[in-house]
Amino acid sequence: MDQPIVAQYKPYRIDVEEGETYLWCSCGLSKSQPFCDKSHVGTDFKPLNFQATESRTLLFCGCKHTRGQPLCDGSHNDLTEEYAGDDRPLEELLSLTEEVAFDPSGRAMLDGDCYVQKPAGLNWVPEGGLQVAPLITGDDNAKHLGQYYARMSGGNSEPRRYPGSDVVLFGMSGRGEVRISGRPFGIEAQSGVHIRADESFEVSCDSGEELSFLVTVCPGHSEAEILTAPLENFAKDYPERAFSCDDSKRNSMADRFYQVLIGEDTGSAEVSQFIGEVPKSKAAPHRHLYEEAIIILSACGMMWTETRRAPVETGDIIFLPAEQEHSLECTEDSGMVLAGHYYPSGEPNINY
Ligand code: FES
Repeated sequence: MDQPIVAQYKPYRIDVEEGETYLWCSCGLSKSQPFCDKSHVGTDFKPLNFQATESRTLLFCGCKHTRGQPLCDGSHNDLTEEYAGDDRPLEELLSLTEEVAFDPSGRAMLDGDCYVQKPAGLNWVPEGGLQVAPLITGDDNAKHLGQYYARMSGGNSEPRRYPGSDVVLFGMSGRGEVRISGRPFGIEAQSGVHIRADESFEVSCDSGEELSFLVTVCPGHSEAEILTAPLENFAKDYPERAFSCDDSKRNSMADRFYQVLIGEDTGSAEVSQFIGEVPKSKAAPHRHLYEEAIIILSACGMMWTETRRAPVETGDIIFLPAEQEHSLECTEDSGMVLAGHYYPSGEPNINY
C-alpha cells in the first residue's frame, strides 16, 4: 500500500476544542474517520497528531491527498475529472423545491437567509461623491461581510474610510483610479483593489466615463466615514494593491477554473476575492465554512437551496451565509463566469 485510500472525497466537518489533540488517519483505512483506529498497523502510514489552538469548526481531509495535513485543501477536486454534480432527476429536484418570486426590491429569499438580488431593484443614494446602493448588510443577517454597489460618472469622490475594516473593490464597468491614502492604483472591469483597515480611499474617472464597482467591507458592520482630506497612513509593507485576471494564475478544480485575485497570498487575512468559471452543470449540494457574496458576470442559471430555488442571470448578486447548503447551476453551453468575496480568507475550492 503506497497510496492512501480515499475514505470519502469531501472533508469531515469537526468541532474541535482548544487544547484537545486529535489523531488524524492518514491511511484511509480507519473505520472511525477522520480519526485513527490503528488500522494502519502493518502499513507505512502513520497517523498525524493535531492539537487545536482554539475551539472552532474545521474540515479534516477525507480523501487523504491533502497537502495541508490534516485539513482539507481542496485536493479531492483534482482526483476526479468532473466536479461533483447533482445527478438526481430534474422532476425530483422540482418536487423538492419551490421557485421563489422576486419582490419589488428585486430580491428572492431562499433558505437560511440566502438570497438572490437583482441590480434593477436597488435603492441608490448619493454618498461622498458616489452613488451607492447596499447589497448585503447586517440587516440581512450577514455576520462578517458588508457589500455595496458604487458608481460615478466622471470626476472625483471625496475620501472615505471604513474604520477598522478591510475594503476590497471589484471593477464592474469602466476604468478609473483609486487613491489609497494618497497612492494611485488603476481599477477596471474584473480587477480588484485592496484597501487595508483604516486607510482612506477616493475614486476618480475621466469625464464622460461611467465607472461602477463593488465595495466589500470586512468586518461589514462599519459605516463609511466621509473625510475632508485623504489620510497619510498607507501600509507600506503591502505595496501591491491592484490585481487583475492572469491566465497563468488560474487554478483548476476538476472541470472548473478559478483565480484568487486577493487573498492570503496577497496579504489579505480577512477577505478573499476570486473569479471563477463554471461549465454547464449543476453542482452537488454542498456547504462552505465561509460567508460569501457572489456576483454573476455572465450566463443564466438557477440557485438552489434545500427547499427553494431562484433563477439567476448576468448581474445578479447572491448572498450565501456560512454553512448554508446550496447548489449553483449554470444552464448555458457557454458556461458561467462569476466573482466571489468571502470571509474568512482562504481558497474557494474547499467545501463539504
Ligand atoms: S487508521 Fe489510518 S492512520 Fe491510523
